[in-house]
Amino acid sequence: MNKEVRIFQTPYKLADEFAAQIVKMIKGSAEKMTPYTIALSGGTTPEILFKILGEKYVGTIPWNFIHFFWVDERCVPPENSESNYGMTNRTLLSKIDIPSGNIHRIIGEAVPEKEAERYSWEISINTEKRDGLPMFDLIILGLGEDGHTASIFPGHLEYFESEKVCIVASHPVTGQKRISISGKVINNASKVVFLVTGNKKRTVVEKMFKKDPASLNYPAAHVVPVYGSLSWFLDKAAGEDI
Ligand code: 6PG
Repeated sequence: MNKEVRIFQTPYKLADEFAAQIVKMIKGSAEKMTPYTIALSGGTTPEILFKILGEKYVGTIPWNFIHFFWVDERCVPPENSESNYGMTNRTLLSKIDIPSGNIHRIIGEAVPEKEAERYSWEISINTEKRDGLPMFDLIILGLGEDGHTASIFPGHLEYFESEKVCIVASHPVTGQKRISISGKVINNASKVVFLVTGNKKRTVVEKMFKKDPASLNYPAAHVVPVYGSLSWFLDKAAGEDI
């Protein structure tokens, strides 16, 4: 696995550069006439990325080659301000011409356990396989201050051993139910990119990069793509100690 670390002055500059990289990857896939599968996270940094894609690249990306999935979703309806799909729809999906069949929403308002099974099936029939698991072309992750990623929280590293495609998790503070892709599916992707900004992430980033023993409890520290590449896009506030 090759690992790339890039540090940017501001969240916008980070998101702008990554948006340009996504455009190149998608166009490369379109030239080969193959679909490009992307799993999106929620959070503040992905939101900046989606706004840029929805403003700067509306007419220049062959959106019909892209299939959007979600890394995780809060178990709320799309109109709820907590909804990751809702945020992506407001900032990006509502602004682009993409076939509705290319948008693979986690149905947050469904019964979590049933939806985890259904979404596992939806992912499985719409992605290529590697080692018997779905293989996303690109997975975009955030990083929580507690070292969580996707909706895999500390104390639940078993989700990196699970053979399930999707799991049902609970937020450790609010108890909010969430559906998340599992750690094995994350590590099966061709490219995994963490987008991390803000000084609140500084400590968790430093511990991870300096291999502090505490970081072994961070689910994000267990994102080690088996075949694919791992990239960290950090702003200065999050990455100044590494
Ligand atoms: C979610 C995300 C989650 C997020 C991190 C970082 O549904 O909340 O998938 O993993 O990426 O919590 O979020 P921020 O970038 O907003 O701090």
